[in-house]
Amino acid sequence: MNKRIAILISGGGSNMVSLAESMVGDHPARPVLVLSNDTEAGGLAKASAMGIATAAIDHKPFGDDRAGFEALLKTELENADADLICLAGFMRILTAEFISRWEGRMLNIHPSLLPKYKGLNTHARALRAGDKMAGCSVHEVTAALDDGPILGQAQVPILPGDTADTLAARVLPMEHRLYPAVLRRFAAGDRTPVYLKS
Ligand code: GAR
Repeated sequence: MNKRIAILISGGGSNMVSLAESMVGDHPARPVLVLSNDTEAGGLAKASAMGIATAAIDHKPFGDDRAGFEALLKTELENADADLICLAGFMRILTAEFISRWEGRMLNIHPSLLPKYKGLNTHARALRAGDKMAGCSVHEVTAALDDGPILGQAQVPILPGDTADTLAARVLPMEHRLYPAVLRRFAAGDRTPVYLKS
């Protein structure tokens, strides 16, 4: 039985597209829902064009009521009968209670070589620190931000003259390779980490 994957996004959804495109043939998973907390997210139209069901739940009317937002999210995930959640540029922090319900069944991609640079502005922070390498990580989601077991990492060099934008442009194509590689293993029950170099 294929695993049913819900992909949560907030923006352009390029990682969502790479995940969705990978789930064909003998892949052990299929995308069943793309959901955004931003009704204007460009990824929603891309998912629709790929024939994937979409949903948008605007978080803004909920203010600080994260549980209220998550109650709607839970309903959408249940209606889609999702087995696993892939966070792919989903820029909302989820509550510990929501995360605990999905423990071991929710992945995230983060644009740094974790445990370095949890949170935002990862590339600028890597440059400021004088790092030689940057990259991205896929990890299981646990209650602590960007902190769960690492399932894969991809490295790229930091080059002289790099800005946060040029570095992001070098890391993103690696994200598009790494996340599908991890999901293929994870959906088959294999948690052996994937390591890639550019
Ligand atoms: C990606 O670089 C992803 O790693 C990052 O947002 C971007 C989304 O791009 N995620 C985070 O920063 C999570 N904290 P996309 O919408 O084109 O996939």
